[in-house]
Amino acid sequence: MRISASLCLAALASASFVSAPASAQPAIKSAPITAATPPMGWNSWNFFAGKVTDKDIRAAADNLVATGMKDAGYIYVNIDDTWEGQRDADGVLHTNSKFPDMKALADYVHSKGLKIGIYSGPGSKTCAGYAASLGHEEQDAKLYADWGIDYLKYDECSFTGDVLEKQAPSDKAAQMRLMIAAYQKMGSALHATGRPIVFSLCQYGWDAVWEWAPGIGGNLWRTTGDINPRWDRIYAILSQQAGLEKYAGPGHWNDPDMLEVGNGKLSLEENWSHFAMWAMLASPLLAGNDLPNMKPEIKAILTNSDVIAIDQDRLGHQATRAYSDGEVEVWTRHLSGGALAIAILDAGDSRYSTHPFHLDLARLGLHGPQNGKDLKTGQPITLTNNMPIEIQSHDTLLVRIATPK
Ligand code: GLA
Repeated sequence: MRISASLCLAALASASFVSAPASAQPAIKSAPITAATPPMGWNSWNFFAGKVTDKDIRAAADNLVATGMKDAGYIYVNIDDTWEGQRDADGVLHTNSKFPDMKALADYVHSKGLKIGIYSGPGSKTCAGYAASLGHEEQDAKLYADWGIDYLKYDECSFTGDVLEKQAPSDKAAQMRLMIAAYQKMGSALHATGRPIVFSLCQYGWDAVWEWAPGIGGNLWRTTGDINPRWDRIYAILSQQAGLEKYAGPGHWNDPDMLEVGNGKLSLEENWSHFAMWAMLASPLLAGNDLPNMKPEIKAILTNSDVIAIDQDRLGHQATRAYSDGEVEVWTRHLSGGALAIAILDAGDSRYSTHPFHLDLARLGLHGPQNGKDLKTGQPITLTNNMPIEIQSHDTLLVRIATPK
């Protein structure tokens, strides 16, 4: 069982309280929580997939700085699958030719004031067929720490065939116990390195991972299968997050997958809604776009500081779907200082101006006019009961109310 440093310190603090007078108490400073707010950064998979190289990662780091994304909070530069080479006779994993020197790359990313993430899995192979960590967990965790890695995405992939189907072919409950043990093994191995490494579980939400991941040291866990840059997929994933809000909080987050903002053929409204709703969900914000060629309107979305402030709100309360009216959905999120974020999303394409959406404030527990800020335009807005709101197909009205009544 991986026990968080803060829990250990709390236990130490209470133990010493029993045995020593108050005046003799050492000042105990609790360790910072890893991933106290949802991790923000960029990951290589959604744009580069298997083609990513050392050069691309350096360019991503350079561009996070040059575009202002680093200043907006995007700190992690995460290498996804396909960096792995072969193990040597001692079992030490080496990089492949696309990544000639991982330590030098980590040093470079750190020199920019950023952090670096890497990828593996509990099976013998990653999803792209490269070497993963089965039987080498401690060795790999130590290697990552030696390189200076700050974040690990740990992807199930071949673990099903390698272990679950071999060791418990027709016993789902036993398979899940094996899965939990495998993730716990890497969680403990990372913890044993003494380096704070964000532990990102990727097993597609199987067997209510949100119920057990925090207990084995998981800082985030994928709740669904893979995202792609299409509205129907993004909306399907969003829908599956309703009800999971109670599992999110500082240090442990639901992960509806990395951002596709700026990818594929998403419209501007879809890019905005994707970003706005992921922020409402207190989701990790890992951009996955082509940073050197980012269009200004995509940069404007990704660096919208009001939206990022919702995602990063220190209370870590994930949004709740308050109600829906056909294809229009209203989500709310309670923020620090008593503020409230309201997102009204038109997820479909069959509502026209002859029948705009009418906001029912009472269903949000609100009474009377609510003064707020429209976070897309930056302009003040007053929400009144039953007001007609026309929202374009796949667009979202995102409002922050400082003092809800
Ligand atoms: C799985 C994951 C993706 C990505 C690929 C890499 O599909 O869900 O996010 O990491 O593997 O092979």
